Amino acid sequence: MSRTPIIGGNWKMNLDLTEAQTLATEVRHRLSAYLGAQTIVFPPFPYLLPVAERLAGSSIGLGAQDLHFEAKGAFTGAVSAAMLTSVGCKWVLIGHSERRHVFGDDDAVVAKKLRAALNAGLKPVLCVGEKLEERNSGETFRVCGRQLRTALEGLTVSQLEHMVVAYEPVWAIGTGLVASPEQAQEVHADIRQKIGDLLGVTYATKVRIQYGGSVKSSSAAGLLTQEDIDGLLVGGASLQAEEFAAIVKAKG
Ligand code: 13P
Repeated sequence: MSRTPIIGGNWKMNLDLTEAQTLATEVRHRLSAYLGAQTIVFPPFPYLLPVAERLAGSSIGLGAQDLHFEAKGAFTGAVSAAMLTSVGCKWVLIGHSERRHVFGDDDAVVAKKLRAALNAGLKPVLCVGEKLEERNSGETFRVCGRQLRTALEGLTVSQLEHMVVAYEPVWAIGTGLVASPEQAQEVHADIRQKIGDLLGVTYATKVRIQYGGSVKSSSAAGLLTQEDIDGLLVGGASLQAEEFAAIVKAKG
């Protein structure tokens, strides 16, 4: 089964407007003609529209880092799915570990956000991953399994046609401690198996699973050549166009 690699650049809460525009333009120049992988950038909310303008007509996808599950109303500081689509977003991160562990999004909130994204026609990147203490106590598979099950319960294969899953071990995010290709592959294989249990083997063979956590151009190829690693979700290293482009092209 060949799955087109998919590489995301999660800019998190970084860059000023000019830097964001410059980065978008450089990413476009370096990658829009590259057909070996699908590329998506996830800028902060205020830069979505200016970045959309820089990427218009290119193959680089645009996504948001989060959304609120309600459609509208008195939710100060929140952004709805329809607002995201109206500024050109096609993708959205759901359940990123910083949303779960810094902002307190629990499994129920993540499930609601996933449904809001799907209802608006946004393609979700559903993020799962264990904390260091969970890995150390042998709970990695159980934690990722719970995060998947609670998010996906009751959804159908056709609703989830465009979903991508990202395995991002919390201990690897922003720490410089990238998971080894073997460590990541082991969890990816388990995630694919669990998705198969929930949604069927045909779907599970097609769904793309990204790895995220301290990825650099030096570690990208080793990860991407693993059987069940179909892409990467890149934080810090996505803020430099040259480094990000090298990651996207790492598989050759
Ligand atoms: P880093 O690549 O900075 O570790 O971040 C990973 C991440 O959280 C991507 O969503």
